Amino acid sequence: MLDEADFRARAAGFRDAFVDFDVYYAGKSFLCTTVARWVAEEGLCLDVCSNGELTVALRAGVDPAKLGYHGNNKSTPELARAIEVGVGRVVLDSFDEIERLATLTTGRSGDPVGVMIRVTAGVEAHTHEFIATAHEDQKFGFSISSGDALEAARRVLELPGLHLLGLHSHIGSQIFDTSGFEVAARRVLALHAKVREELGTEMPEMDLGGGFGIAYTTQDDPAEPSALAAQLGEIIEHECRALGVSRPRLSIEPGRAIVGPSMCTVYTVGTVKEVALDGGARRTYVSVDGGMSDNVRTALYDADYSCTLASRASTAPPVLARIVGKHCEAGDIVVKDEFLPADITAGDLVAVPATGAYCRSLASNYNHALRPPVVAVRDGVATVIVRRETEDDLLATDVGAHEGESR
Ligand SMILES: Cc1ncc(COP(=O)(O)O)c(C=O)c1O
Repeated sequence: MLDEADFRARAAGFRDAFVDFDVYYAGKSFLCTTVARWVAEEGLCLDVCSNGELTVALRAGVDPAKLGYHGNNKSTPELARAIEVGVGRVVLDSFDEIERLATLTTGRSGDPVGVMIRVTAGVEAHTHEFIATAHEDQKFGFSISSGDALEAARRVLELPGLHLLGLHSHIGSQIFDTSGFEVAARRVLALHAKVREELGTEMPEMDLGGGFGIAYTTQDDPAEPSALAAQLGEIIEHECRALGVSRPRLSIEPGRAIVGPSMCTVYTVGTVKEVALDGGARRTYVSVDGGMSDNVRTALYDADYSCTLASRASTAPPVLARIVGKHCEAGDIVVKDEFLPADITAGDLVAVPATGAYCRSLASNYNHALRPPVVAVRDGVATVIVRRETEDDLLATDVGAHEGESR
């Protein structure tokens, strides 16, 4: 369930706080045509990272000039389409990609294609390994320390079909401590200055990525966009002064911090089972009608969530519960630990808040589960914006299922 007013308020909160930045909503966190329209209506740009996300954005009528195109393995046809539709910037991630773009743009008429170079700043973001993206030993970007990032800038500047807009750095996700951004900004700006000194080009832009943390449980204490904007702005001002470069036009790419808290997942309780733990304690396993097929973050990142009994009030004493899905994996856990009323039973509804980001967008058909709908609510009115999958959807691509029909 997606709260439209909350989503729009968070998008506008970033737009208004980061007043002299461009704010790109990271579509990978959650995207459908309705959300893409809200993003555009709130004056944000949109970051896509696949042909599919690009299709959704275009179908929603988003101005292609306001699209950024990411990805570590963009194919030649994908790049050709991005150029053809006129995306505002392509974020380069490899020398292979520069070659592909060189081939695609040689002899091409029209404006050069705007590109940014994604760099790895060697920062260890304090987050889960699989959502930290600026250390050296992972698949994204060009390393600053090895010299690859400078070499990428040199190659791009040799290509008349490309316009080097600037450097891009995304250090990871669910980050609360701005010191990672500070170290990254210092290193990226140092490279920005080096490109001017050694290659004679002052790039007009720089992107600091997304990754701003949100509250999944009461243990998390995220900063307001205004505080983040002030801190990041100060870091950049200070570094630009120290390096003697003018401040580039900055952009950020928040996803989770906009859509994450705007959505909650409502499950129906099925089986309830009590399990004895070592030492005599007991845990109640509450199975729900979904699981890792609609929220894989707990299994993938060991993520923490909370939940609440949403369909009725209860005065029963609290018991230690674990919300598990209906899939054939012991790791199919949605909420690891939560106290729920002892009388929780089949048919109750349980709501898990803060499931807007990287849940529905990472959903799968594991065990041939039907992916759930997304329902937008506004002023008490509920509207289905992504419908529930049907068995016909499930069988549509299973060509063997139609063999009988064709005989
Ligand atoms: C390049 C880039 N930008 C932005 C984001 C958005 O991160 P978040 O949703 O944590 O703000 C991601 C997330 O993976 C990313 O890879």
